[in-house]
Amino acid sequence: MLRRALLAVAASEQIRGFVTATPATRAVVDRFVAGESIGDAVRVARSLREDGLLVTLDYLGEDTTDAAQAAAVGTQYTQLLGKLAAEGLTEDGAVEVSVKPTALGLLLGSAGAADGITARGERTAAEHVERIVVAAQDAGTTVTIDAEDHRTTDAALRLANSLRPRFGSVGTVVQAGLRRTEADVRELAAPGVRVRLCKGAYAEPVSEAFTARHDVDKSYARCLRILFQGPGYPMVATHDPRLIAITRSLGLRRSPDSFEYQMLYGVRADEQRRLAQTGARVRVYVPYGGDWYGYLVRRLAERPANLLFFLRSLGSSS
Ligand code: FDA
Repeated sequence: MLRRALLAVAASEQIRGFVTATPATRAVVDRFVAGESIGDAVRVARSLREDGLLVTLDYLGEDTTDAAQAAAVGTQYTQLLGKLAAEGLTEDGAVEVSVKPTALGLLLGSAGAADGITARGERTAAEHVERIVVAAQDAGTTVTIDAEDHRTTDAALRLANSLRPRFGSVGTVVQAGLRRTEADVRELAAPGVRVRLCKGAYAEPVSEAFTARHDVDKSYARCLRILFQGPGYPMVATHDPRLIAITRSLGLRRSPDSFEYQMLYGVRADEQRRLAQTGARVRVYVPYGGDWYGYLVRRLAERPANLLFFLRSLGSSS
């Protein structure tokens, strides 16, 4: 309830203006975001690699309706991949990238309303994602296509499905919170397919999504079982101790390199290292860039303790 309310309030431009202009926000942003530049992203990726962790880098931004901006995001990723390869970080997919279709033009021509996705939007996002996938392949690494709100789900799945025959390593993300996901996961549990399972970070209508936390968790556990029984490569994106325990027991029947855990930069860092020390593959999702507002709000909405930390830092600055 609090989460939905917070996500709704945060959509106001006035609130965005206030939060982004407040200097004390910086401390909270720094906990979850690597920095603004490619240099910052590479520095954090290198340090996580030194701790035995895998990394996926996300250039922050979403919901673009400007073609030049979408192209610039694509170029940012190809430059990032070039730099990561030059630093020797991409070998065997150790550091990969995550991309958001709406940052790469999916909403072009739709006046910002995702349910009106146009052929132009889909074509533009596909062109930029393919450009990034080619750069990633040249660098020896992979791309995962993030999941956004339910209005973009079909387009994001189509995008991954159309690239997979040529670039088998393209990863897809599904959200256990959506009612449709169990059926999607059955289709995706195919040989070699990389599927990231998360709970889902967006405020969704009841018609599309489970509202009770335990229903989301039960859906997550069902999807996990389907993925682990299949021949694909599950990427288990959660900080939830119970779901991590279920994954551990499902994983006993597979080789440790046939799946991975994924967690966010700045969330349960000790647990990330602890799991990696047991020999598990653990990947940290690291966002960077200046457009951090939407990402930060989703992190605050997920956990009252994070919101309190943020409000306290605002209080101490005044
Ligand atoms: P839940 O929120 O129930 O938290 C379980 C426990 O984990 C909490 O009790 C707390 O201990 C800890 N915890 C969780 N979040 C925390 C936080 N922010 N700060 C501190 N502690 C926290 N979503 C999406 O819609 N599309 C996507 O593409 C992705 N991609 C993605 C990648 C990766 C690597 C991760 C880990 C997550 C995503 N997500 C996402 C976000 C995901 O959908 C979800 O919103 C968050 O992971 C929080 O859900 P949990 O599964 O962690 O459980």
